[in-house]
Amino acid sequence: MPCKIAYEEVSYVIEGPRAAKVEELPQIVKLTSWIFGFERVGARMDEAFPHFLNESNIENLRVIVSDGKVVSHVGFWEGWLNLYGCWVKAGLVGAVCTHPDYRNRGYASALVRDAFRKMREDGVDFVMVSGKRTLYSRAGCVEAGKVYRFRTRPSAITIFEDVEVKPYTEDRVMDLVTLYQREPVRFKRSLDEFKLLAGRRIREGVAKVRHLIAYKRRRPIAYISALEFDGTWSLVEYAGSRRAVLRIISDLSKTPGIETFELNIPYGDWEMLSLLEDVGLKPQTSSAPASLAILNPMKFAEKIRLYVEERIGDVEFIVESKPDGIRIQLSDSRLELRDPREFTLLVFGRPETVENPDTPDFDPDSIPEPFKTVFPMPTPTYGLNYI
Ligand SMILES: CC(C)(COP(=O)(O)OP(=O)(O)OC[C@H]1O[C@@H](n2cnc3c(N)ncnc32)[C@H](O)[C@@H]1OP(=O)(O)O)[C@@H](O)C(=O)NCCC(=O)NCCS
Repeated sequence: MPCKIAYEEVSYVIEGPRAAKVEELPQIVKLTSWIFGFERVGARMDEAFPHFLNESNIENLRVIVSDGKVVSHVGFWEGWLNLYGCWVKAGLVGAVCTHPDYRNRGYASALVRDAFRKMREDGVDFVMVSGKRTLYSRAGCVEAGKVYRFRTRPSAITIFEDVEVKPYTEDRVMDLVTLYQREPVRFKRSLDEFKLLAGRRIREGVAKVRHLIAYKRRRPIAYISALEFDGTWSLVEYAGSRRAVLRIISDLSKTPGIETFELNIPYGDWEMLSLLEDVGLKPQTSSAPASLAILNPMKFAEKIRLYVEERIGDVEFIVESKPDGIRIQLSDSRLELRDPREFTLLVFGRPETVENPDTPDFDPDSIPEPFKTVFPMPTPTYGLNYI
């Protein structure tokens, strides 16, 4: 219901938070392209984020509209994430912005709350927000999960693996699908979505993501998706043989202009982490892949039950929401958590480096033994699904 408010003696009709209308999509693209610096380089946000800035996702583009003009926006994409065989419904939130003339009126906060309400309604289990602001921690997010960052020269990666490396073209999309499908932590992508994501530009539209595929005896065994930004190359996604992934990266030392390569390796990929150690690389610290939130701990616990059983057996695993917090029973051990964000920290672990001062003190290292057998789970990262 639109409400009319008087502001400095001028009347504005403010609508929202609500879903955008299809005819408002061009305004969202314009506002977000301007605020996130795409317009400056002649690019558009919908080219960078084709999987969620589109008409079919209009219900998940939430806006505040002033006198017919979109002035604040929060968007999200809903899909499925596989964590070691357990499918959870994921909501990826991004393109959060308010026109500078309308800031500090609580618009973004209201839209974030509205987006979380809609995702709950849609049965989303797990949320990732690409930002580490109090705007998100007030909505229940926390910097959880661990990603280890390495910066190196490609030539420093001395791994021998006899492969033939070819650039991606759309007719090779099935090679990417085949390799990605075997990953233990991955998003569900339809074939069309995969093509769309493989063709996307990620940062400010200037650079397309480049994909390189390694073949052995003509069979695909690994690929990397990499992005050049400000002279640094970074690994956006990889799948398949870790040795072959590193071999593709070392090959890039032959390409002029590639001085630095950045690798972000998630907790759980021990093979990649040990290979990097073998070539003398050590991460300086770990940070969260995003601000994360498990929306309904009880439901989430049900979704990961098979993973839990595989690690600890068919023991009691009961998660209950109480007025004063969350109670978890695992085997014969109990844990009481005051803040729901602590459950997300328990499940995905606490990174060494945290940006948001509004982070609970909870220390997952202090948990009783059976919990340590099960948690943290491997850290999910965006890869090409980045929003
Ligand atoms: C960040 C941005 C979206 C905020 O929009 P906004 O409509 O002004 O936001 P709000 O008025 O709801 O809140 C403004 C600030 O006050 C804080 N705030 C609002 N209500 C609050 C409350 N009740 N208690 C404490 N803090 C509060 C918010 O957390 C926010 O702080 P933060 O940006 O450091 O997280 C806007 O500044 C913007 O578009 N920036 C550029 C794009 C950008 O950086 N987007 C975010 C990408 S992660």
